[in-house]
Amino acid sequence: MRFLAAGLLLLGVATLSAGCGTGQTGIAKGGDVSQGKTLFVSKCGSCHRLADAGTSGTIGPDLDGAFAGAKEQHFRQSTIKQVVYDQIYHPAPAGLMPPKIVTGADAASVAAYVASVAGTGAASQGAPPTVTAAASGGGGGGQAATGAKLYQSLGCASCHTLTGAKSIGPTYKGLYGSKVQLSNGQTVTANDAYLLESILDPDKQIVKGFKKGIMSATIAPGSVSAAKAKALVAFIKSKK
Ligand code: HEC
Ligand code: HEC
Repeated sequence: MRFLAAGLLLLGVATLSAGCGTGQTGIAKGGDVSQGKTLFVSKCGSCHRLADAGTSGTIGPDLDGAFAGAKEQHFRQSTIKQVVYDQIYHPAPAGLMPPKIVTGADAASVAAYVASVAGTGAASQGAPPTVTAAASGGGGGGQAATGAKLYQSLGCASCHTLTGAKSIGPTYKGLYGSKVQLSNGQTVTANDAYLLESILDPDKQIVKGFKKGIMSATIAPGSVSAAKAKALVAFIKSKK
């Protein structure tokens, strides 16, 4: 994520020094930091972790982690503020972050707030959750039980329910053995092979009605080991 932030910062700096921008975003003027914090918590926190705001969303990058490098390199706060402001107006074309959630003075306030706090804490505070590090499991206890722990520790629970309710992703309840309609018009049976692939390479097949890139933004292709994926499939299987 530092890489992404660095790229955005370069863009932001280029935009500022060119003085003309894209003609759409404009310069972030003023902004009320405390108002920005309130707006951040309600509009951005569901997707972004930020220690000062106490939010823990994982769909977008951890903003402490994203801007820690910029803070270390003593980028001016106004530069970071402009980067955040630009991001609000022009998120990456992948489309996971909706554009213009807040605009004008509200956007300036959120940007001023994020610039004032992101990446200022201890380095450990901003550490993004690691997907590969969790749970060693494996021994005796049964695949499904290991899978249940991984379901929590790898963050699958934040997007998949066990109750039948649709969340950010489809529910696991009744998933195993069911017919799944894909966005390409095909229908497949949710057998072991399909479920394994859905975990190992999340963007390969997309369930109809869901967006590509949401799961892979958190669970990068190949980030879950085959052994863990098998345990997760055993767990999903048990949620009839
Ligand atoms: C629905 C989820 C979602 C919401 C809501 C959301 N974001 Fe994002 N955000 C993302 C995703 C996904 C990315 C990474 C991809 C991209 O750049 O679009 C991102 C990227 C960013 C980045 C760039 C971070 C980096 O690593 O360089 C910033 C800054 C940011 N968001 C700020 C905000 C602010 C401020 C708000 C509230 C006004 C907000 N986001 C609301 C999903 C979201
Ligand atoms: C940020 C949200 C998010 C996280 C975290 C996430 N998923 Fe998903 N998942 C989705 C979405 C959205 C879809 C539907 C789109 C697609 O098919 O990729 C999906 C699809 C799936 C499917 C196919 C479901 C079906 O109905 O066919 C499986 C299996 C799955 N995820 C397993 C997992 C596992 C296991 C984890 C944890 C290691 C995980 N997911 C983490 C969002 C997420």
